[in-house]
Amino acid sequence: MMEFSERISRISVSSTAAVVQKADKLRANGAKLVDFGAGEPDFPTPDHIKQAAVRALEENFTKYTPTGGTRDLKEALVERHAKDFGSSYTVEECLATVGGKQAIFEAMMATLNAGDEVILPVPYWVSYLDIINYAGGKAVFLETDEAENFAVRADAVEKLITPRTRMIVVNSPNNPTGSALPREEMERLLAVAVRHKILLLSDECYCHFVYNAPPFSLGSSKDREHLLIVGSLSKTYAMTGWRVGFALGNAKLLANMLKLQSHSTSNPTSIAQKAAVEALRASQDSVRGMLAEYRCRRDRVVEGLRAIPHVTCTMPQGAFYAYPNISAYLNDDGLADTTVLAERLLDEALVAVVPGPAFGTTQHIRLSYAASLDHIDEGLRRMAAFFAKF
Ligand SMILES: Cc1ncc(COP(=O)(O)O)c(C=O)c1O
Repeated sequence: MMEFSERISRISVSSTAAVVQKADKLRANGAKLVDFGAGEPDFPTPDHIKQAAVRALEENFTKYTPTGGTRDLKEALVERHAKDFGSSYTVEECLATVGGKQAIFEAMMATLNAGDEVILPVPYWVSYLDIINYAGGKAVFLETDEAENFAVRADAVEKLITPRTRMIVVNSPNNPTGSALPREEMERLLAVAVRHKILLLSDECYCHFVYNAPPFSLGSSKDREHLLIVGSLSKTYAMTGWRVGFALGNAKLLANMLKLQSHSTSNPTSIAQKAAVEALRASQDSVRGMLAEYRCRRDRVVEGLRAIPHVTCTMPQGAFYAYPNISAYLNDDGLADTTVLAERLLDEALVAVVPGPAFGTTQHIRLSYAASLDHIDEGLRRMAAFFAKF
């Protein structure tokens, strides 16, 4: 029998991907699903971005590019970041990657030795934990308080620091809760990282989608030596399938991440890079439009969830996820845990959601409201009918 590495046995297929696969299968069999599972915009990629890719093809821009992205793309990335957030990164402090996920993977592989600790606030996006484990690190969980909207507190983070701590991960706005930290708290987190000479990995994949405050990035802070920003065009420009992300940070760290990229994927797809330059340099109206639409959807989803008896839901301040607490329905009589509940919701009500264990909690399910208002209304109606049975 074929044997596999100890390393690969430390991780499993992303459980969000598992839900998407099951939902796809049901859909292929003709089921009329309401899909709150997939963490991606339902909007198409804006036309002017697609056209830039068509032009790239026509101009035969179809060969290898520099591993870390073309100079043009890196310039466009740092210029956009400077315009949006007042940062001042140079091209040498920028790496274009195959999605934000690759940047996170490379950063952890490049910095963690066996047993190194990474402080990971709960709830967390599923891939951080698997990547930490794959890299040989050890996640140290920071529990957050639902009553405080899952806010991460810098003083609580600092209490978890030991001589083995190498990294703090922060993701604001957060997947799966939609919680968004105020700038002051983010700056306190950075100050903790600086004080202890460890790396703060700030995953800003959703930073353009904040509802109650102007968007900001820690990248505009003065002290950037211990900061790595990870970003992505996936959500901002509805470009999940194009696979373009980036990292901004210390040039030495990026050079080490680049080594890994050079021996794995090489450059992000050439055509996608051209499309990304267009996305970054052209009008940002589509981003504003999506934000306005997500806000309406958020209000509708939260109102609908809260109207289901015994379901509570914190108010998401950003991203496009709601994370209701459905623990009142869990019992030994048919709904043992949220995984069973999500399976039954999919099978019996044709509504796809992701169960909380993927994000480190047992009392919640995640709904992605990157779906039309009609879908949202129908999904909520089905969920209310489903919960009424219990
Ligand atoms: C918090 C977070 N970070 C990073 C990513 C990675 O996105 P991508 O690799 O498509 O850029 C995702 C995708 O869902 C995410 O939710």
